[in-house]
Amino acid sequence: MACWVDSAPANIALIKYMGKEEGNMPVNISLSYTIERFSTTVELDDAAEYDYLEDDLGLTREQRDRFLVHLRYIKSRMDFGGYFRVRSSNNFPHGAGIASSASSFAALTKVACKAIADIESRPMLSSRELSEIARHGSGSAARSLFGPWCIFDRGEARSVEFPYTIIHELILIDGARKKISSSEAHKLVRSSLLFSNRVERAHVRCQRLIDSLTSQNWHDAYQICWGEFWDMHALFETSTPHFGYIGGNTMHVLRRLEEFWLQHKDGPIVTLDAGPNIHLLWRDDDLRKLFRASASDLTFI
Ligand code: DP6
Repeated sequence: MACWVDSAPANIALIKYMGKEEGNMPVNISLSYTIERFSTTVELDDAAEYDYLEDDLGLTREQRDRFLVHLRYIKSRMDFGGYFRVRSSNNFPHGAGIASSASSFAALTKVACKAIADIESRPMLSSRELSEIARHGSGSAARSLFGPWCIFDRGEARSVEFPYTIIHELILIDGARKKISSSEAHKLVRSSLLFSNRVERAHVRCQRLIDSLTSQNWHDAYQICWGEFWDMHALFETSTPHFGYIGGNTMHVLRRLEEFWLQHKDGPIVTLDAGPNIHLLWRDDDLRKLFRASASDLTFI
């Protein structure tokens, strides 16, 4: 029996994709860092009569259906009539608070397109084509096809490089599943009065972030990313109904990170996804070691 396996990494947005149109077309530009060490692997085998999913991710019924809907979408895009058994696993623990939709939809897209290309002796699609298909599964998945950084603009993702080697760290505040999914958040934020200028704000910040990372102005990059995650969380908190993820524990650690920056005039880029956990991007130098030694009560992964 033929079998295909492929994997794709997670990514963390510094300029956030928030608000979308049909086909997960983002309303605004986003910029992400690709987290190579956290990935999803998807395995496909031929199946006789229907597609089915054996998942190790502890997905809900709705999430499983969404995964199979995307497989059907890929097959229709490739004009393919066969069926697959799908198996999916993450190399990061379930409950680690890392959204796996980007890595899982990107991995599913890669492996299904590869399997269909093999079966039908067709050429493999380019990363650009795969990314466009992956977007229909989950918008942020379009970025997981590119690295080390990715710009996602008007539905098209592309790699971008900056003169830094990055170490990504996650401060795990709470690993529980989100009450409001990102897909729901994209809809709810439109009810916020702050949403009206959101596209412009994301655009301005993205351009400034590109400039500061290119010119190695790390402090500006930190400031821009700090403003950007608060912008997204302010949208959440001013939506109707409002919702939010930043509680006392997250706030406590954010204040400590601010103090670190004040004390050292340097530190990591700090960002939050749609959740309470804190992502840090460190330049790969001694600074990170210093902070780790002074923060042993925080949970890092
Ligand atoms: C807050 O890609 O999860 O993580 O397109 O509905 O699957 P769908 O949404 P998703 O949205 C990601 C939102 C975010 C910010 C980001 O990654 O840019």
